[in-house]
Amino acid sequence: MIPLLVFLSLAGTALGLPNCDAEPLQLPLQDVQVLSDKKDSFMRGIPAQIGRPVQNIVLLPWAELNNTWIYDSEAYCDKTIIWNDNICRVRRGNLLKEEESTTYIKANNIGAAGGAPTETYWDGSELGLKSLASSGLGGTDNFQVNGTQVLTGFPFGIPRLSWDHGYTMLHPLGLGSNSTYLNALRDAGQLSSRIWSLFWGRMWVDEPVDGSLVLGGYDENKVIGQNYTAPLNFGDFKGSSGCWTGMKVTISDIKLNFRDGRDKSLFPPNTALSCCLVPQRQLLLEAPFSYLETFENITQTSPFDSPSYGLHWSAQLFDAKTAFDGDITFSLSSGLEIRVPNSQYMPPFVDIERNGSRIFKNETRELLINGVDNQPATLGRYFFTSAYLMVDHDAGTFTLWKANPSKTSKLVKVTDLKTSTQCTNNPAATEQPTEEAAAQPRASGAVIGGSVAGGVVGLALIVLAVFFFLRHKQRSNNVEDASRAESLGHSPGGYKSPVYAQAAKDNWQRGSYHVPQELPGSNPVPFEFEGSTQSVYEMGDGQRK
Ligand SMILES: *[C@@H]1O[C@H](CO)[C@@H](O)[C@H](O)[C@H]1NC(C)=O
Ligand SMILES: *[C@@H]1O[C@H](CO)[C@@H](O)[C@H](O)[C@H]1NC(C)=O
Ligand SMILES: *[C@@H]1O[C@H](CO)[C@@H](O)[C@H](O)[C@H]1NC(C)=O
Ligand SMILES: *[C@@H]1O[C@H](CO)[C@@H](O)[C@H](O)[C@H]1NC(C)=O
Ligand SMILES: *[C@@H]1O[C@H](CO)[C@@H](O)[C@H](O)[C@H]1NC(C)=O
Ligand SMILES: *[C@@H]1O[C@H](CO)[C@@H](O)[C@H](O)[C@H]1NC(C)=O
Ligand SMILES: *[C@@H]1O[C@H](CO)[C@@H](O)[C@H](O)[C@H]1NC(C)=O
Repeated sequence: MIPLLVFLSLAGTALGLPNCDAEPLQLPLQDVQVLSDKKDSFMRGIPAQIGRPVQNIVLLPWAELNNTWIYDSEAYCDKTIIWNDNICRVRRGNLLKEEESTTYIKANNIGAAGGAPTETYWDGSELGLKSLASSGLGGTDNFQVNGTQVLTGFPFGIPRLSWDHGYTMLHPLGLGSNSTYLNALRDAGQLSSRIWSLFWGRMWVDEPVDGSLVLGGYDENKVIGQNYTAPLNFGDFKGSSGCWTGMKVTISDIKLNFRDGRDKSLFPPNTALSCCLVPQRQLLLEAPFSYLETFENITQTSPFDSPSYGLHWSAQLFDAKTAFDGDITFSLSSGLEIRVPNSQYMPPFVDIERNGSRIFKNETRELLINGVDNQPATLGRYFFTSAYLMVDHDAGTFTLWKANPSKTSKLVKVTDLKTSTQCTNNPAATEQPTEEAAAQPRASGAVIGGSVAGGVVGLALIVLAVFFFLRHKQRSNNVEDASRAESLGHSPGGYKSPVYAQAAKDNWQRGSYHVPQELPGSNPVPFEFEGSTQSVYEMGDGQRK
């Protein structure tokens, strides 16, 4: 087996051609038991093996990184919310022991290991990205994801920097435009195109549905209706049509769908919100603070505690008995409407206990929305419980559909124009791309491409104005109120509900305030917050403004 793989790998690299016969691969996004001796030490991600003898790890698909990063014993978990090594090991999806792998070869850094020498930083991304590659270690080893081909000598980085602040967790599987993983699979003849597609699945319900990452195509059974395609545009969020993930959309409305059929908009009239799709982020939505305040006003509910420090770090905590029980619908300017059911954005509080078990507090619901100040708005992984995403690096496009939460799969191979030309000219190629697939980036590229281009200038102006207004307002309103209560414990979130802040202050003055969560033992280093998650990303770099 190994010599054949090596041959394929060399042949692919030498020819620089895709294997036009390769069928799409499917990698499950599912609950994976992290500690072999703890049955309920679950994290949701992609199971993978590294080294020889193999070590089991769990990966998180990461949209913009080119390299894959594997944490070892220096795992940079945030000690103020992750209280022991057990919790850290589970939340990171197990830790690599390089010294125990006979096939591991150390390199000075990720570039020397054969990976991408830099990880580009764009506005909005984790600030620590700027020096992740230059500070990190590198190495190569056998790498195998969910039983697909063993990639021998696969280059990966080992972080030596607390670059992500620890809450995004799991080892990032880089799926960026020059992804070492996608390139390696293509060079090994396993992929005919560098396309990846993602459905996060449905969790926290009686009948959970696993998600999946499909490579080289998409899962037809998991999509409904028309597709919407737009160009990938990498860049800074501000002043450009780009995003650090390459995927910018414009939200024209967000409606709360009450059980009695009423719909109420979270949007101020005549606004639009530019937003980056960031499937690795742990929530549904990060949006200006006013959206959370409007949520409280419309639903007549308020968080009863400071934001979550659990797996849904920075979510808002509500009492399950009175929490809003309706759905939420996003209207994108392209015409796509995505309705996220209540169960997928108001799940029970979930965390990893000291003993490594995943535990729920079902009497508490987490609203998976956080406020941001002057950071870009994002749609995170829970958007992909209800939307299906396909990214095509060769065609430079991304495509969205409504997701169909089906347990069945029907993988469809997609080959872009460039690859299909290569395949046509390649005498070894036997299979031609279907007309449908080849037509797809052209035909539907117009669909949201047009509306994005048309709307972007006007909307950008409105959005900028809204941002500056809110930033100003936020600074003056919320920051001071809650600070006293928070200095008692760790408040990982940016949003401070005015109602909760007032209640906490009153309780404090009456002497009845008590910290509902366990404190981190002997050194309760309080977080400092500036009223936005921005400060958090900056802390990841170890250099606060
Ligand atoms: C992509 O990454 C490889 C290393 O993995 C590097 O050799 C190559 O130059 C990169 N391509 C581009 C376009 O930067
Ligand atoms: C990925 O590699 C491409 C090609 O070299 C580069 O343009 C891009 O900036 C890289 N992305 C990141 C996040 O480093
Ligand atoms: C990968 O995981 C999926 C879902 O669990 C499974 O159906 C499939 O057979 C696996 N593929 C391989 C090659 O192991
Ligand atoms: C709490 O919620 C989780 C996730 O939905 C579920 O698996 C569990 O059975 C619930 N526990 C109780 C006691 O209802
Ligand atoms: C929420 O309601 C309060 C009280 O009516 C009001 O002062 C505030 O402006 C409202 N907030 C938003 C964002 O609508
Ligand atoms: C871990 O601790 C939690 C909370 O104390 C408990 O419910 C759970 O049963 C424990 N798990 C194991 C495997 O002991
Ligand atoms: C996307 O939509 C276009 C135009 O409606 C259609 O021709 C194409 O087949 C669709 N592509 C996929 C991958 O479903």
